[in-house]
Amino acid sequence: MLVQTPVDSPSAVPFWIAFVATLVCVVGALVSGYRCRRRLHLVFGPAAMVALAFAIVFTEQLVRRYEFPRENLDFHLVFAKSAAALALPVIITGIVLLFRPKVRKLHLVCVWVWLAATLVATGTGFWMFSTGTLR
Ligand code: HEM
Repeated sequence: MLVQTPVDSPSAVPFWIAFVATLVCVVGALVSGYRCRRRLHLVFGPAAMVALAFAIVFTEQLVRRYEFPRENLDFHLVFAKSAAALALPVIITGIVLLFRPKVRKLHLVCVWVWLAATLVATGTGFWMFSTGTLR
């Protein structure tokens, strides 16, 4: 399990900090976005992306210390890569939305598609770790 890493493995603490920060920022981005608090949203939205990037980097550090059945790793990677790619439309439509109010709905669709993909990637990631063993 991810939280029970032994002393000689890299600490899972940075991962959990980045993971919780991502959740907080995503909730903040959703609330501020729906409430039209643009200034606050432009802090939480980009911060959610940065926190997620950190969570991915820390996950990769942990992955290197584990061995997983190849097919489980491949299965998870499909969803992880899709979720990472789907972050781009969120960022692009978000930036365009600053100047063109018409893309509001498109940004919203991109946000929910990305959130769904990220949820599946997170779920398959935790499942993958549950099938891994420390090297
Ligand atoms: C680089 C990242 C992002 C940028 C530049 C951005 C930009 C924007 C802008 C300019 C608005 C309009 C706000 C207003 O007029 O008051 C908006 C709305 C919104 N954004 Fe983002 N955003 C980003 C990321 C996110 C993320 C990560 C989420 C969710 C996790 C999100 C969810 C929303 C929602 C729910 C709305 C309201 C849409 C509606 O009511 O139709 N955004 N965004």
